[in-house]
Amino acid sequence: MADESVDSKQNPRVTRRTFLGTTLAGGAALLAGGSDAIFGASSATMNPATNPTWQLGGDLPVNRLGFGAMRITGEGIWGWPPDRNNALKVLKRAVELGVNLIDTADAYGPETSELLIAEALHPYPKGLVIATKGGLTRPGPSQWVPNGRPEHLKQAVEMSLKRLRLERIDLYQLHTIDPKVPMEASLGALKEMQDAGKIRHVGLSNVSPEEIVRARKVVPIVSVQNQYNIEDRKWEKTLVYCEKEGLGFMPWSPIGGGRGLKPENALEKAARDRGASVIQVALAWLLERSPVMLPIPGTSSIAHLEENVAAEKLKLTPAEWKAIERET
Ligand SMILES: NC(=O)c1ccc[n+]([C@@H]2O[C@H](COP(=O)([O-])OP(=O)(O)OC[C@H]3O[C@@H](n4cnc5c(N)ncnc54)[C@H](OP(=O)(O)O)[C@@H]3O)[C@@H](O)[C@H]2O)c1
Repeated sequence: MADESVDSKQNPRVTRRTFLGTTLAGGAALLAGGSDAIFGASSATMNPATNPTWQLGGDLPVNRLGFGAMRITGEGIWGWPPDRNNALKVLKRAVELGVNLIDTADAYGPETSELLIAEALHPYPKGLVIATKGGLTRPGPSQWVPNGRPEHLKQAVEMSLKRLRLERIDLYQLHTIDPKVPMEASLGALKEMQDAGKIRHVGLSNVSPEEIVRARKVVPIVSVQNQYNIEDRKWEKTLVYCEKEGLGFMPWSPIGGGRGLKPENALEKAARDRGASVIQVALAWLLERSPVMLPIPGTSSIAHLEENVAAEKLKLTPAEWKAIERET
């Protein structure tokens, strides 16, 4: 998509502050006892918006804060990362911290994100859900060209299976609707792959509610991945549709993407009061915003990963929520 190509550093990212004492403690608690250990309660007793897990497709329990594996590739989401060993470490650390939903795409690299995931994590730990996508091709760095032709998509599924060393992909998302191809044809190809046992669940990306309705006439849809963060809510209607229909909603660029969030923003006060970073509050805000929200922040840094995962246990009070809403 257009925004996938944006990797600008022109606006300064908000300052990172330390979320005192929580990051590593959070990781340790997750390591010791899974996400319930952190929350100290069974999910059944919780407000759904604060439930730390989500049943993707009704049968794949995932911790709601996932990891986006687009940023572990090279500059312009092209080629291998400058430090390949570090990328492998980031992926391993994500799983150690309790992340069990990793988002990727054949287009990231292209291919290198999927290859790194397999290299770092295969044989995969039980319960790890890898969500990949197809339907965007990469003629060069920072270039993204849709291809939703059925033959292309079927081949893309086969190639992702090989790279990820999987027999079946848990979640395969149509990366974008190709304006040159009727979406029914693209989704028909994914349904064929699902019927052949190569895809467990199908998801969509960059779609309106009307497009989801059309897609669901062809194949069951379990999730949608659209751009969404506290400062960019243009896909609000899609989120509301997902919430109403019980579909997972994976906001991409959940912390503002390559540009980051605005330097002065509505999250600053809550962050200051909590000794948290603005990014952690942005993620906590998303998790609180909807029970179907599955943020997939991306990073190539272990320190940022640890900071992001720790946001899972930062709960905003109603007063903080109201103050943030007033200012955005
Ligand atoms: N479906 C689609 O069309 C689409 C489009 C874009 C992205 N996606 C998916 O969504 C995921 C997330 O999107 P995104 O990567 O664009 O945006 P994002 O997660 O909002 O932001 C990633 C950027 O934030 C930085 N960052 C991460 N954690 C940080 C922290 N704690 N402190 C300071 N900076 C931090 C990263 O740099 P560092 O590496 O330096 O940490 C990176 O530049 C992607 O990985 C991909 O899986 C999907």
